[in-house]
Amino acid sequence: MKVLVVGSGGREHALCWKLAASPRVEKVYVAPGNAGCEAVAERVDIKANQIEPLAGFVIAKEIDLTVIGPEVTLCDGLVDRLARLGRKAFGPGKDSARLEGSKSYAKALCRQHNIPTPDFKVFKDRESLERYLERAGGRYPLVLKADGLAAGKGVAICHNDEEVDEHLTACFDRHAFGAAGETVLVEDFVKGIEVSVLVITDGQTLAVLPPARDYKAAREGNEGPNTGGMGAVSPAPIDPKVMARIEEKILVPTVHAMAVEGHPYAGTLYAGLMLTPAGPRVLEYNVRFGDPETQPTLARLKSDLFELLWAATNGELDQVEIEWDPRPAVTVVLTSGGYPGKYPKGFPITGVDLAERDPNVIVFHSGTERRGGRLLTAGGRVLGVTALGDTIADARRAAYAAVDKIKFEGMVYRKDIAAELE
Ligand code: GLY
Repeated sequence: MKVLVVGSGGREHALCWKLAASPRVEKVYVAPGNAGCEAVAERVDIKANQIEPLAGFVIAKEIDLTVIGPEVTLCDGLVDRLARLGRKAFGPGKDSARLEGSKSYAKALCRQHNIPTPDFKVFKDRESLERYLERAGGRYPLVLKADGLAAGKGVAICHNDEEVDEHLTACFDRHAFGAAGETVLVEDFVKGIEVSVLVITDGQTLAVLPPARDYKAAREGNEGPNTGGMGAVSPAPIDPKVMARIEEKILVPTVHAMAVEGHPYAGTLYAGLMLTPAGPRVLEYNVRFGDPETQPTLARLKSDLFELLWAATNGELDQVEIEWDPRPAVTVVLTSGGYPGKYPKGFPITGVDLAERDPNVIVFHSGTERRGGRLLTAGGRVLGVTALGDTIADARRAAYAAVDKIKFEGMVYRKDIAAELE
């Protein structure tokens, strides 16, 4: 089988690595990928938002399965485009991808189908939103969410009028999120423990993946601005009874609701949840694998990833058993100095081979390029150093020992990934 992976991050490197290990896969292509993917896949110079060129490539190379990493490719309808061309792709079609592409759609679905989620209101202009807040009278904190895809920057937890003003100005006046910010949701703030739970589904059967924890804040102690993710651990400790409740009250009803609404959902469904004293609440859905969570998760997957994704694409997920390495895995993300703000690129990276001498370590690349034989930084998140260990403490030790061997100018990373779980 020939597989195309779409995207260029650590998630896509991990997907390429695992798919290339399948005896059923003869060739993996990645569009556009990164320097790390080159060891297991052939890179194709097409970006994740270039739907027609991607579709043309799939036809020209007779790709059997396209596996899509980023939400933008799903929301722009590559899966539907390929289906019309008679080609299989893992992931939801454009209408189903609205679960991530439109927060108001996702929240309305929850309300309609009794899926627990914090209360919310939707506004299409600043004046009516401000009038509503005035009437409601200073209920801080509250959450403001740009409706559409905003690269993780569209959500603000506001503690006072100034923070509300700042986010509304970004959305409605500065148009910082383009059309994505022209509709804004006001959502109740709920307290609890935040967890990400992912399932792979063919629309009927759900394969719940081990819960992972993602460390989004830039600095130790969960301080500093939000990033795409500075590290992750799999599995995250969630009481099996709570997981059963999440499956029963949220995951199964969501997949069922999508079918009832006429948008059957197949692919990865990622529920961002708050575990509150009153039970789990949906904060958001993503329609793709998380990054970096996919890195420790796939490091632990013993089964054949191609078999799993192929079965989910073909409505045969009930015929697949998934086996996991019982050992935990920890990923530490190495970033360029300045990330998530502006950062310089093009610095040489050394020590990746040394780091990977430990058989329990794999270094997934995110923002890297190879020029003139040298590995260079090419993004905010540069590498995801992933290690397995008998315990979380062992996995952390191996990951940080590997990190110590890698050098590039301005390298920044968090030293407390999974530390609270030791
Ligand atoms: N790590 C968060 C995300 O993938 O959205």
